[in-house]
Amino acid sequence: MGIQIGDIYIDTPVFLAPMSGVTDQPYRKMIRKQGPELVFSEMIASREMLNSENSGIRKLKTDCEAEYPLVVQLAGWDPGDMALAAKMSEDRGAAVIDINMGCPAKKVVNKFAGSALMQDLDAANSIIRSVVSAVSIPVTLKMRTGWDSNNRNAPELAKIAESEGIQMVAVHGRTRCQAYKGEADWSFIKKVKDNVRIPVIANGDIQTVYDAQKCIRISGADGVMIGRGAYGKPWFLNHVTKFLKMGKVLPSPVLLKQKTFLLEHLDLMMNYYGFENGARMARKHITWYTKGLPLASESRQRIYSTKDLSSLINEIENLYENALEQMAV
Ligand SMILES: Cc1cc2nc3c(=O)[nH]c(=O)nc-3n(C[C@H](O)[C@H](O)[C@H](O)COP(=O)(O)O)c2cc1C
Repeated sequence: MGIQIGDIYIDTPVFLAPMSGVTDQPYRKMIRKQGPELVFSEMIASREMLNSENSGIRKLKTDCEAEYPLVVQLAGWDPGDMALAAKMSEDRGAAVIDINMGCPAKKVVNKFAGSALMQDLDAANSIIRSVVSAVSIPVTLKMRTGWDSNNRNAPELAKIAESEGIQMVAVHGRTRCQAYKGEADWSFIKKVKDNVRIPVIANGDIQTVYDAQKCIRISGADGVMIGRGAYGKPWFLNHVTKFLKMGKVLPSPVLLKQKTFLLEHLDLMMNYYGFENGARMARKHITWYTKGLPLASESRQRIYSTKDLSSLINEIENLYENALEQMAV
């Protein structure tokens, strides 16, 4: 099931999806340490990057060695900007550039970027051509099935992409107009797969190892990309990899081990953002890690109001201790 993207060989393609506000450097490092072979950055707006605005530059900050091979995802509507941003990313250590043609957010599509490009394949083609010729590293493309149910042109866009030198496409099995509603249509991804020779990665709604297997069977894809299924479970992609490769179902880590993952992730966030921003970023991750644990919602309120790192860690320790006590009775 291995695929080749430029010089990079991926034995079992199970990728971390790009997610704005989630797949920052600390999160990618957590995921990468568990084994998955490729992780994607958050989407970075090309104009923002070129204007050196803080968040654009912060998102480009990578730990090339620990994260190699990192895919930096770019969004934009101007082929020139996209080419410059791609070159800048390559110079800063990106191993692969991914072009975003899937983002449904109004602020992105109103600027005719993200999934809006699926409405104008000539514009999409210009961007692809411009980015591919600007860098010497591989370029990939992430898309949806189309703009809406009457315009599902992902197979056509993938064909154009292939002819312009794109080396892999990832398809989220929903249209732009669906946003995140309904179910991802894995069978439509088969039409993309049948239309190109480059690797096709299927994405959308993979929450269990069995979903991943089913998604590959239905879509015929070369691998899967996982986003929300890895919330609070940095081990999940590794479990999917092991299952696809060896048919082995690994058990979820015991609660104490899960706590260790959370504390390790917290440490990475603190080193990266400092206490104030780190604690703010940590909130959603703490919620995901502790989802469904007894008494977790009460503890979370205390966790969110802590004013220093040692009280934050103490409160997390208490949360897990209380959960374990409750589960023992
Ligand atoms: C919070 C969030 C942020 C996202 N940000 C991006 C992004 O920056 N770039 C992108 O291509 N897709 C983005 N996506 C879409 C995901 O990459 C993925 O296509 C989608 O969530 C479906 O996969 P899943 O069901 O495995 O989560 C985002 C999704 C979520 C939930």
